[in-house]
Amino acid sequence: MSVLRDDFLWGGAIAANQVEGAWNLDGKGLSVADVAVFKPNLDVTDYAGHNTVTTAMIETAMATDDAKDYPKRRGIDFYHHYEEDIALFAEMGFKTLRLSIAWSRLFPTGEEEVANVAGLAFYKKVFEELKKHDIEPIVTLSHYEMPLALSLKYNGWVDRAVISHFTRFAECCFEAFGQYVTYWLTFNEIDSVGRHPFTTAGIIPDQCQAYSLEKAVYQALHHQYLAAAIATQKCHQMIPGSQVGSMLTKLTTYPHTCHPEDVALALAQNLDNYSHSDIQIFGKYPVLHLKRLQAKGVAPDMEAGDEELLANGRADYLAFSYYMSRTESADPELEKTAGNTIMSVKNPYLASTDWGWQIDPVGLRISLLELYDRYQVPLIIVENGMGAKDTIEADGSIHDPYRISYLKAHIEEMKKAVAMGVDLFGYTSWAPIDLISVSTSQMSKRYGYIYVDQDDLGKGSLERRPKDSFYWYQKVIQSNGDELD
Ligand code: BG6
Repeated sequence: MSVLRDDFLWGGAIAANQVEGAWNLDGKGLSVADVAVFKPNLDVTDYAGHNTVTTAMIETAMATDDAKDYPKRRGIDFYHHYEEDIALFAEMGFKTLRLSIAWSRLFPTGEEEVANVAGLAFYKKVFEELKKHDIEPIVTLSHYEMPLALSLKYNGWVDRAVISHFTRFAECCFEAFGQYVTYWLTFNEIDSVGRHPFTTAGIIPDQCQAYSLEKAVYQALHHQYLAAAIATQKCHQMIPGSQVGSMLTKLTTYPHTCHPEDVALALAQNLDNYSHSDIQIFGKYPVLHLKRLQAKGVAPDMEAGDEELLANGRADYLAFSYYMSRTESADPELEKTAGNTIMSVKNPYLASTDWGWQIDPVGLRISLLELYDRYQVPLIIVENGMGAKDTIEADGSIHDPYRISYLKAHIEEMKKAVAMGVDLFGYTSWAPIDLISVSTSQMSKRYGYIYVDQDDLGKGSLERRPKDSFYWYQKVIQSNGDELD
């Protein structure tokens, strides 16, 4: 008998900007993802420089119609392959698919009063297709793809004006797709504004005249919390029975040693990570977090009524991504490694992926227990997976035991947490099909159960091909997580 609930939502997660392609078709406007440049030689010991975006870089990107250096423009052409891809997800037995709606496909500059009809028609077709296969959609409104025009005009979410543009977009989605979608997420990994301000919030650092970049980050975050609260209220009003979640990158941080300074540093990191879901689930800023921002002079400017808004627009559930744990130390000399767009001290007990991310299944159990104990709202894991290079054998098969062993170990730990009482209603791995990496825009960093024939330069037939993990996941779903071997 499975420890998981009978209606457990097994599936996978994708994002519009990493799969759709069709960046300039049928009226779509440019998004921040369409100017993200290919980074083949990412140094896993340096994420800091890698996230730098300048006005000049954006202008260079806008001057070309070529997708060669901007792989998110082409994605994996889900725009034209969605029927085939959804049929493959259905063949694996998916109960759910987490996907996002490209804001600039509906509102090309973000400021239009009326949505682009062709954009609405595309998503309607996708939702119809999911319905045909009995796959429940979980929809993220904003997954690293805000209209570029809003970023350029307002320096992204730094300007409060963006809230009303987002609200119009959200209301449009609720109205058009409310008949298909019960589960919504407002902002993907809302905590990531600090790690990549441009990707998550459209902030161009060299445009931060009025504020320091750090203050701009907290101002943008404040506006996103408000926008999420407004969208949550509207969604509840417009779609009876709808559920709106907060979405966090769960960056569980361990102290490198039991030296009190290491412990204090790890605690600070964990509290910082929690501050975002605290605001969205408890409906208010944590006291110590706000005092820290005030002491540094980077607390956001707030207006009368903001506190009420946050209190009245609390999230119904908490979704999170989990790829790895982190380690902190007071010793600056220790070896560092990369993680999900963040650097950490290397944990001597853990192996790493080729991209330096530390593999820690037990950390998922710890994360689930911590999150449920803190929030006591339903949880869902909406991203978990391993980026790896895959090889096609002469007979066309693709053996990916490393991916199976990563996922198996994480699902085992997930089940242990559920057996201890955690209310978990689903698991969507990242990503069920190979797609363009967020951090590097590489295609060769593959996550899928389904191989896509395309290389880093965009060459290939785009043919889809199941890997060994495809058949493994099919059995996992069939047995509701009991058969993991
Ligand atoms: C998550 C993002 O943080 O990490 C995804 O929500 C992303 O969009 C995933 O793809 C994996 O990161 P990367 O850089 O390997 O694509």
